[in-house]
Amino acid sequence: AADIQADLDRVLVTDEQIQEKLAELAARVDADYAGKDVLLVGVLKGAIMVMADFARHLTIDAPMDWMAVSSYGASTKSSGVVQIRKDLDTPLEGKHVLVVEDIIDSGLTLSWLLDHFGTRGAASIEVLTAFRKPDAMKVDIDAKYVGFDIPNEFVIGYGLDYAERYRGLRDVAVLAPHVYQ
Ligand code: PRP
Ligand code: MN
Ligand code: MG
Repeated sequence: AADIQADLDRVLVTDEQIQEKLAELAARVDADYAGKDVLLVGVLKGAIMVMADFARHLTIDAPMDWMAVSSYGASTKSSGVVQIRKDLDTPLEGKHVLVVEDIIDSGLTLSWLLDHFGTRGAASIEVLTAFRKPDAMKVDIDAKYVGFDIPNEFVIGYGLDYAERYRGLRDVAVLAPHVYQ
């Protein structure tokens, strides 16, 4: 495999900045969900890193479940067509659901997912996202816990991929255009 660094334009958010922000968000979630029957729902595959790090900053014991959906495939643009690749193992009835995402880009994935979850009887549904692109959003998503607002450029790392690559980069970086042009 090729060297990741050669494919980067520039780093937008460092590993250290991400961890500091997730610790802040976890402190808020600790307070907001104390004594509640919470369920963290990670959206595979992009959310694997944020789930792993965020959950380890929590002091409340929060069960995790996973949903696999995909809208991007091997493209840099969302298709808007969301496919369920793996459903939850846990019923949502009565649960305080916190959906954990790596990024809100167009918002289409979460818009679809929140509609879908809305029929499953959760006591509450909120969203935590590590990143959000305000200038790319096509539908408004009311995310309660947001790490960083970033510019509308194609970013990779910290779970975010381009054609399944670069998820393991610790920082979030802008992909060099030569990679996808
Ligand atoms: C990416 C990302 C979010 C979604 C955001 O997932 O992880 O889930 O797109 O884009 P949107 O707001 O425009 O819908 P992707 O579909 O690439 O699947 P992946 O998580 O497996 O990479
Ligand atoms: Mn995703
Ligand atoms: Mg992806």
